[in-house]
Amino acid sequence: MSKVVVNRCMSLDGFIAGPGHSMDWGGGRSLADFVDPDDFAAVAAATGAMLIGRRTWDVGERMQAEEPGSVDYPFSGPMFLLTHRPLDRPDPDVRILSGDIGDAVATALAAAGGKDLEILGADVAGQCLQRGLVDEILVYVMPVLLGDGIRFSSPDVTRTDLEPVSSTRSGDTTMIRFRVRK
Ligand SMILES: NC(=O)c1ccc[n+]([C@@H]2O[C@H](COP(=O)([O-])OP(=O)(O)OC[C@H]3O[C@@H](n4cnc5c(N)ncnc54)[C@H](OP(=O)(O)O)[C@@H]3O)[C@@H](O)[C@H]2O)c1
Repeated sequence: MSKVVVNRCMSLDGFIAGPGHSMDWGGGRSLADFVDPDDFAAVAAATGAMLIGRRTWDVGERMQAEEPGSVDYPFSGPMFLLTHRPLDRPDPDVRILSGDIGDAVATALAAAGGKDLEILGADVAGQCLQRGLVDEILVYVMPVLLGDGIRFSSPDVTRTDLEPVSSTRSGDTTMIRFRVRK
């Protein structure tokens, strides 16, 4: 059954990006270099659609411009971008949504074809958690302490109780799944 999943790589001290939205996890390695390729492919295969915050989109665009191929997630399904502003370069593969987060999640979930909807962006994930729209959290704990940066969740996310589902070593990361208690 389709689930709404917040899927993140995160430093051990709770940051999903470093200062200035840096996605440097160490040694110049991309995320795909840290995670077992089979796990990476299995999670991508279980994903039917993505709902992406504008800052996440802009960081991805910047990384691609600086180093083509650096955004290398093996996903090719429908993408929905939450933003109040048009893209400088319109992308036919992405649909722009704006407004109520519940409506956005429902629209993206309907396009996921029975697979999971992945939520990308701390602000967007926070809105989804606050509204009780998230079913599962999947975290790849990266072997680094970043000290500063973008936190997993914003301060306006209130207490959310989780049920542990699994914890496994995947490459150089620890992959942890939680179900959100509702
Ligand atoms: N480590 C990981 O696995 C991972 C995964 C994803 C992202 N990240 C990182 O997380 C950072 C981005 O997260 P973030 O919290 O800063 O931002 P975000 O959630 O990606 O984007 C927030 C922006 O999305 C737009 N937005 C959000 N809700 C909206 C709504 N309901 N209607 C219309 N527009 C809406 C707004 O942009 P506008 O008003 O400007 O349009 C808002 O400022 C980046 O550094 C990214 O690299 C890390």
